Amino acid sequence: MVKIAPSILSADFACLAEQIAKVEKEADILHLDVMDGHFVPNLTFGPILVEALRRRTTLPFDAHLMMSDPDRYLIPFAKAGADYLTVHAEACPHLHRTLQSIREQGKRAGIALNPSTPLSAIEWVMGEADLILLMSVNPGWGGQTFIPFTLTKIRELAKMRRQGSLSFEIAVDGGIHLDNCKEAAEAGATILVAGSAVFGSSDPPDAIRQMKTRLR
Ligand code: DX5
Ligand code: ZN
Repeated sequence: MVKIAPSILSADFACLAEQIAKVEKEADILHLDVMDGHFVPNLTFGPILVEALRRRTTLPFDAHLMMSDPDRYLIPFAKAGADYLTVHAEACPHLHRTLQSIREQGKRAGIALNPSTPLSAIEWVMGEADLILLMSVNPGWGGQTFIPFTLTKIRELAKMRRQGSLSFEIAVDGGIHLDNCKEAAEAGATILVAGSAVFGSSDPPDAIRQMKTRLR
């Protein structure tokens, strides 16, 4: 069953707990977009918010760390209650070590790749990952358009996973809507991150239900 991970980036930050409560039953994972104003131009939030949200929901958290030098913040995000720590390969010169550090914290290790980064960049460390997140937009904002070549990238990644007898989740992040969710899942994505499609809707839980129906 493909999982839906709503991204709170498109939620109303003035009442995040209520927004999350709305999707608590339908969502599988909550996607938390951390932006540092350096690796990406935008700024969002840090471990303090993650810790506050941890007290309000039992949904698993994927902290998508769109930040330079994420190694400095792995422990604070782990302590704040993130379940997955997803770092960008582009921001980690010693990615193998970073993935090991995440697992040493008892957390699941995720690798994110920008649209322009080839899969070969992570070929040797895939076995150390619990999740590989393919960006289907250039990271920084919600509400952008899905980049079509991502579908080929998902298929390639699914093939590499099969060939290596590996079991990481394949997440796709950016521009996922009702009309393209099935295509992404059929290509091999196992987690669909959706921000504006869920929290931009007047009925977020129904938006997730509709996606799940479409995926059947
Ligand atoms: C983009 C973020 C995404 C974003 C997706 O930089 O990583 O998680 O919230 O938003 P939508 O689904 O609106 O493209
Ligand atoms: Zn994200």
